[in-house]
This record gives sequence, C-alpha cells and structure tokens, in this order.
Amino acid sequence: MPAPTFLYGTAWKEDRTAALVELALRAGFRAIDTANQRRHYFEAGVGEGLAAAYRAGVVTRDDLFLQTKFTYARGQDNRLPYDPAATLTVQVAQSLASSLEHLGTDHVESFVLHGPASNYDWTNFDTEVWEAMRRERDAGRARLLGVSNVSLDHLQQMEAARAELPAFVQNRCFASQGWDRDVRQFCRQHDIVYQGFSLLTANREVVHALSPLAKRLHATPAQIIFAFARSIGMLPMTGTTSADHMKEDLASLNLTLPQEAMNAIESIAE
Ligand SMILES: NC(=O)c1ccc[n+]([C@@H]2O[C@H](COP(=O)([O-])OP(=O)(O)OC[C@H]3O[C@@H](n4cnc5c(N)ncnc54)[C@H](OP(=O)(O)O)[C@@H]3O)[C@@H](O)[C@H]2O)c1
Repeated sequence: MPAPTFLYGTAWKEDRTAALVELALRAGFRAIDTANQRRHYFEAGVGEGLAAAYRAGVVTRDDLFLQTKFTYARGQDNRLPYDPAATLTVQVAQSLASSLEHLGTDHVESFVLHGPASNYDWTNFDTEVWEAMRRERDAGRARLLGVSNVSLDHLQQMEAARAELPAFVQNRCFASQGWDRDVRQFCRQHDIVYQGFSLLTANREVVHALSPLAKRLHATPAQIIFAFARSIGMLPMTGTTSADHMKEDLASLNLTLPQEAMNAIESIAE
C-alpha cells in the first residue's frame, strides 16, 4: 500500500468505534491508528468497522495501513490483553496476537510501543519489549515498528544502546515546543516518520489565532494546522467524530500554504 498521508485515530470512541471507523473509511481515510489498551480504545470495535467496510466494498485489506500498540500494564485498566504475570516478551506476543484477532488480520503495517517504561530513560524493560516487537516484526506479524510518547533523550539513548531505531515516532505535538522541534529533527536525520497527535487540542490558542489567515485562504483553522503539519514533514492524525470534519481534514491534503504563513506558524507560539 502507498505511504499513509493522514491517520484516523480511534481513541475514546467506545461503542461508536465501529461506526466511526466505517465512516472514516467511507470518507477516504486509509490509515487507522488504534491500540490494545481497552482503557482508551475499543480495538475489537475497530475490527468490526473494518469488516463492515470490507463487506460493503468500500475498501479491501490491501488498501489499508493498520497500526496498533503494545501498552505496559501501568497504562492499562484491569482489561488486559495479556497475562500480567508473564514476561514482557510473552506479553508483547500475546498483545499482538489479540490485536490481530480484534482486527481480523494476520499482520499490521505498524506496531508501536505506546510509551517507554520511564518518562526519562530508555530502560531495560523497553529493551526487552523492543526486542520482542522486533521478533514479531521478523515473524511477519508487523511490517514496521514505532515508539510513542518519547523525548529526544529516549531516542538518543536508543541510538547510544545501538538499538534498531523505529520507523515511526508518535507524539503529542505542542506548538509551544516548536511543534516538537527537537524530536522532529532527530526523526528527519534518521528517516523516521513523525506522527503528530493532539494538533488541535494541544494548541487551542494557535488554532484560534489562525482564523484570519484561514479566512484569507478560504480554509478553516484546522485545515491550516494539518496542511502546516504535512508541509514540515509530519504525518498528521485526527480522531474527529464528525463526518464534515473528516472531509475537511482530508481536503487539507490539497492545501499549500504560502512560505510566509509557514514561517509565521512555525514560530507562532515562541
Ligand atoms: N500515542 C498516544 O499516547 C496517543 C494519545 C492521544 C491520541 N492518540 C491518537 O491520536 C488520535 C487523535 O487524537 P487527538 O488527541 O489528536 O484528538 P482528536 O481525538 O482528534 O480530537 C480532536 C478534537 O477537535 C475537534 N475538532 C474540531 N474541528 C475539527 C476538525 N476540523 N478536525 C478534527 N477535529 C476537530 C474534534 O471534535 P469533533 O469530533 O466534533 O470533530 C475533537 O473534539 C487518537 O484517536 C489516537 O488514535 C495517541
């Protein structure tokens, strides 16, 4: 399948998950982000939405980029997709096996570590999990690997430990931190695709401040943010629950921002 251009996120949708995934596919999304973390995601519902779209002839499995995550027990509630008494290596295998069952597939395009064990360091726990994820990938159950909620320190420590670097980094992106400039720079230097989430919700004042520019360009502030994100090399994510916003967000792929607007947005919150 071609490289994804916009990720549709499935967090916090509970019993609307299946219907919204189907709606997103009908709207034109071809890349879906989920996680085997029942606390925030209903992955089996994602699978139901995919199955409905296949049945209706909207897409085939080959059209899709499916991404899921392994989440440590501390990020889960009591609905765990693995035996918490098992080793981390076994937990990773059980989690992905359960994801594949939820999603009705024998592989995902991307398997992501939801967050390192420590907010500061790349620890031995992460080393074990990452190795287990590599084994899943090598066995064909995932095509590419990613890490999420990482700092530049985490990535530099992975590099210093000579760990294989991820194909994807998925982070919350704050304009106030130069749109995660340090991490994005590391990604650019190492051919890692940066996936940005909370682009609207983490930057509400910026979204508001973009209204005049949006008006001039006959676009919405959300479209400006997503077009900006694409222009600086990011793979944007949206979890909108609105059919209109789905269309609006995808239409931003055709919007090119003037260079002076790019410069202004890049430094808007500094
Ligand atoms: N790795 C992680 O730890 C992590 C953490 C958080 C999220 N994620 C992923 O990222 C995905 C997206 O999450 P998010 O935090 O970016 O927030 P989001 O779920 O996309 O929420 C966006 C919010 O902005 C509103 N909105 C208004 N206009 C919009 C427009 N034109 N387009 C889109 N939204 C608009 C939406 O309302 P409407 O619904 O009414 O449009 C919604 O309330 C999640 O579903 C999940 O897959 C990952």
